[in-house]
Amino acid sequence: MAGTVRIGIIGTGGIARAHVNAYKQMPDVEILGVCDVIPGKSEAFARDAGLTGARTFDDHRSMLELDLDGVSVCTPNVAHHRTAVDALQAGKNVLVEKPMAVTLEQAVEMARTAKSAGRILTIGFQPRYDPNMRLVKSVVQSGKLGKVYYVEAGGGRRRGMPGGTFIRKDLAGAGAMADIGCYSLDMALNALDYPKPLTVSAYTSNHFGSSPTYHREADRFEVEDFGVALVRLEGGTVLNFKISWAMHMDTLGATMFLGTDAGLKITPAGTGPWSGVWDGGVGSITLFHDILGHNTSSPIPVQSHHVQIFFEKVRDFVNAVRDGKPAPIPGEQIVRNQAVIDGILRSAAEGREVAIEIPEI
Ligand SMILES: NC(=O)c1ccc[n+]([C@@H]2O[C@H](COP(=O)([O-])OP(=O)(O)OC[C@H]3O[C@@H](n4cnc5c(N)ncnc54)[C@H](O)[C@@H]3O)[C@@H](O)[C@H]2O)c1
Repeated sequence: MAGTVRIGIIGTGGIARAHVNAYKQMPDVEILGVCDVIPGKSEAFARDAGLTGARTFDDHRSMLELDLDGVSVCTPNVAHHRTAVDALQAGKNVLVEKPMAVTLEQAVEMARTAKSAGRILTIGFQPRYDPNMRLVKSVVQSGKLGKVYYVEAGGGRRRGMPGGTFIRKDLAGAGAMADIGCYSLDMALNALDYPKPLTVSAYTSNHFGSSPTYHREADRFEVEDFGVALVRLEGGTVLNFKISWAMHMDTLGATMFLGTDAGLKITPAGTGPWSGVWDGGVGSITLFHDILGHNTSSPIPVQSHHVQIFFEKVRDFVNAVRDGKPAPIPGEQIVRNQAVIDGILRSAAEGREVAIEIPEI
């Protein structure tokens, strides 16, 4: 594609600003429209973000009448499905924020629509652009671990509960599982090349979210703040997955990949750099410590790690749109991530192991 890539923003809350900040650093991108369902919000957003050339809308369908090449979906989880499907059907390429959707059915419909429309549907997991994540995947995929039969993963926040739309089942779909669990799942499953999940046995709880001692909005807290699941994956690998927004513990433990020839452990290091141990006769590795400025091809100056990897995710979407390449993080693949979350919620509700069935895309 020649010329500028024309972009629209759906939903103008917190994360939309990060998208706009990234797009604004790209000389070949123009933001032509922004929309938000709250009247007046898109105007205020466009003004604050200095988007002088952008038109503003209260309904994404009106914005989709513009000649756009792509849109960023930055709404609460519940609206990812409708807005992404409408955008794809209108011929736009779509970068949708994580988690992909609220239900498995929605995720499947989004992926099917992308396929039938022949447009990009990519899911915004910026940790994919963290060089540490790439290193983990390359070690797992190198075969040096032998057959990976057991993976332990998951994020453990000690005191990290959000409120607002994130704790409402109808808007977020799930709690910690959807909010931060989808990232850890993506890290583990992507390292394994996204094997099909087969069954899951899970437990979830919300002892902290539902307690006025620990949460200001305890009376409105409808989702899980903790969860643990044993997920059987195609090929015989088992994933032990854990997540928490709050707990009386510092960590839920290291991420690890156990193989028949070697093991890879990623030790939680709070906000600092990760450390890695790779054992079993093949030596050891050190994960990147100089993560700032790792990407020497970036056209922008060195900036914070989070800003940098966010930029790279948005840039990768733009590159794919511009060059007619496939989705960098395809919706079709992330349907498997949504299917695990769906299975976890079903299993926890039923108190038993459940099968995960993913319809054909
Ligand atoms: N990748 C990341 O690092 C990251 C970080 C935070 C949030 N997120 C994700 O981004 C999404 C948005 O989070 P947020 O914190 O910006 O939420 P937010 O509540 O601050 O903003 C969402 C905005 O979308 C608007 N909206 C709702 N339905 C809409 C619709 N149908 N059409 C247009 N606008 C609509 C709301 O009015 C609101 O202004 C969530 O899915 C969240 O999980 C991603």
